[in-house]
Amino acid sequence: MQKIDVILGLQWGDEGKGKIVDYLAEQYDIVARFQGGPNAGHTLKFDGKKYVLHTIPSGIFRSGLINVIGNGVVLDPVVFQRELQSLRESGFEFEDRLLLSRKAHLIIPTHRLLDAASEAAKGKAKIGSTLKGIGPTYMDKTGRNGLRLGDILAPNFKDLYHALKTKHLELLKIYPAIEFDLDAAEKAWFESLDSLRQLTFVDSEYYINDALNKGKKILAEGAQGSMLDVDFGTYPFVTSSNTITAGVCTGLGVAPQRIGRVIGITKAYCTRVGGGPFPSEQDNNIGERLREEGQEFGSTTGRARRCGWIDLPQLKYTILLNGVTELCMTKIDVLNIFEEIQAATHYQYDGQTTDRLPFDMCQTDVHPILKSFKGWHSSLADVRKRADLPQAAQQFILELEKELGVPFSMISTGPEREKLLVD
Ligand code: GDP
Ligand code: IMO
Ligand code: MG
Repeated sequence: MQKIDVILGLQWGDEGKGKIVDYLAEQYDIVARFQGGPNAGHTLKFDGKKYVLHTIPSGIFRSGLINVIGNGVVLDPVVFQRELQSLRESGFEFEDRLLLSRKAHLIIPTHRLLDAASEAAKGKAKIGSTLKGIGPTYMDKTGRNGLRLGDILAPNFKDLYHALKTKHLELLKIYPAIEFDLDAAEKAWFESLDSLRQLTFVDSEYYINDALNKGKKILAEGAQGSMLDVDFGTYPFVTSSNTITAGVCTGLGVAPQRIGRVIGITKAYCTRVGGGPFPSEQDNNIGERLREEGQEFGSTTGRARRCGWIDLPQLKYTILLNGVTELCMTKIDVLNIFEEIQAATHYQYDGQTTDRLPFDMCQTDVHPILKSFKGWHSSLADVRKRADLPQAAQQFILELEKELGVPFSMISTGPEREKLLVD
């Protein structure tokens, strides 16, 4: 039975999923996004140019490859139109290679307004949302009020839109008013629907299963990271979708036995953007050096990312949740500058030392136990295979493999497509 392979982030997002999907896409017929929306920012670098994708799958730059936006995704037509436009300006053709699920939910302007009002009302306790309307849109989906892509073709679409917007305006009354030009946002939103109508809508659950039955190779591309999963992440500092492997089943309509390779990506250290717990965070000079060397600024919002050491209890947890079959380490080159590097191996909380996560990381005082590793303090620019990495880097990777119980099949040594050691 042909299976679908999965790539996803094992930390709090921005692990380098876009780069790895773009690299691997060549080996596939179809790349499909299964959750999230324009809160994602996936960066690709090749031929000396940099591209950032938000809703469009990272297989779009590989000619001939089909890209599917699945039912589990939430789509903002305005952001989407902008992405399409920048692809066109870069000279890429994609019109017949980009398929959209009719069942994907639409982000409407008042979803963004609700997101902003809800965050503003939370004050210091805010989630640090990207303010793209993600939470309110998934709330409408599960609350059974949402609008779906297929609805834009319905003759009464304007009425459906109006009914939802009216509900939102009522809801907004519970929040202090915030500045938001709704008229302008609505105008842009309706105009952007035209570019959506020109693309192909599919019943993606049939499309994906038919393709698998024909032996096509499919790669599912995750957004965010497992620690932002709405069920298992650092709740409530999470996003509103299931970012883990299980999300592939619900977000594309494939059965669990159809899941093949699960490639889990981790940075060689750890970052998070927005609020919430981060046990191995280095809110100090080390964190600043990681941020500067790793250029840790958000691809979607430009915010500075919080930085810290790699966290093994956290990774063990997300490897377990996802059924990871192989690991990929990105940004190992960022550690070149350190004489000594560290990894959290255990947590201490409630009088115990453990490698398990507490029920609620937000309410528990978690102290990470750090182990030191020798740095390699040299450039990896000319390294072409894992065996040629400096001894200290090989030792670091081996130690992580031993602890995590899963092999690293790819080591990324730079943002460019070709900077990847594949064993
Ligand atoms: P994604 O959301 O998981 O796709 O990751 P982002 O694109 O938000 O953030 C990853 C950043 O790291 C991007 O700027 C990439 O160009 C960059 N990047 C990816 N892999 C590497 C790597 O191995 N080394 C370095 N230095 N940068 C990398
Ligand atoms: P990619 O796919 C990093 C974070 C936000 C915030 C929380 C909730 O590029 O890895 P939301 O807008 O979903 O309501 O925000 O989740 N977040 C991300 N952090 N990478 C992402 O995506 C993220 N998408 C959301 O910063 O803390
Ligand atoms: Mg990102």
